[in-house]
Amino acid sequence: MSVFDQISPDSSIVVLTGAGISAESGLATFRGADGLWEGHRVEDVATPEAFARDPALVHEFYNLRRKGVKDVHPNDAHKALAELEQKWLGEVLVVTQNIDDLHERGGSKNLIHMHGEVLKAFCANCSDGMGDKIDCVDDLAVEMACENCGYAGGLRPDIVWFGEMPYQMERIFEALQNCDVFVSIGTSGNVYPAAGFVREALLSGAVTIECNLEHSMIANDFHEHITGPAGETVPALVRRLLA
Ligand code: OAD
Repeated sequence: MSVFDQISPDSSIVVLTGAGISAESGLATFRGADGLWEGHRVEDVATPEAFARDPALVHEFYNLRRKGVKDVHPNDAHKALAELEQKWLGEVLVVTQNIDDLHERGGSKNLIHMHGEVLKAFCANCSDGMGDKIDCVDDLAVEMACENCGYAGGLRPDIVWFGEMPYQMERIFEALQNCDVFVSIGTSGNVYPAAGFVREALLSGAVTIECNLEHSMIANDFHEHITGPAGETVPALVRRLLA
């Protein structure tokens, strides 16, 4: 019996996505050859300590990410997930680790950016990052003053850095505890808590499916592996689920 025979048409689906789903749109992933972490040290650009030490360098790193996002478009994988959400009888929640806006531009509505959004910012001087965010389409710079408190130097990209708590964890764990199907797309399984979501879904009795170019670090936790580029495998998976 295939795992697909165990999936009823009104089941709850949680989809976790990582950098691999945006790779065919032209955005670099983090790990592996040509990955962003090959050219930069996490400690230099993706921690609160790095921002305190050298905010200009951190801004430069995320200004480049922001520019990159503006030049690319959602691919067939993003669009297929939006179609699944629209047509599926049960709930479909997409939890992305990605800071780009390709899921929303692809049409996803029920979406959580657990690691933040590069097109948003907040002022670390007058906000804890949990409230309203500022839209941020252009470069950030150290000398910019916050419109709210007037302090210069506090504006930071709305990114969850290493050592900080990802967003909406309560809502995510509730969804995982109630899900019937968990799909992981284009993520290497290196970064927790996202890498632990599949275990939580297994505890709920969910069917677990991994779509990746290769087996991830946590591949053993998946019932089904669909190997290949997300732009092909995800539309095929969605067609199969909707059939
Ligand atoms: P990684 O760069 O660690 O992993 C990308 C994954 O995508 C790998 O497993 C690749 O095999 C797979 N992949 C690449 N191209 C693909 C394609 N076309 N189709 C399908 N799969 C493909 O990126 P993430 O797992 O997203 O966090 O990284 C997790 C977190 O680590 C990021 O959110 C970021 C990073 O540090 C923060 O910065 C807080």
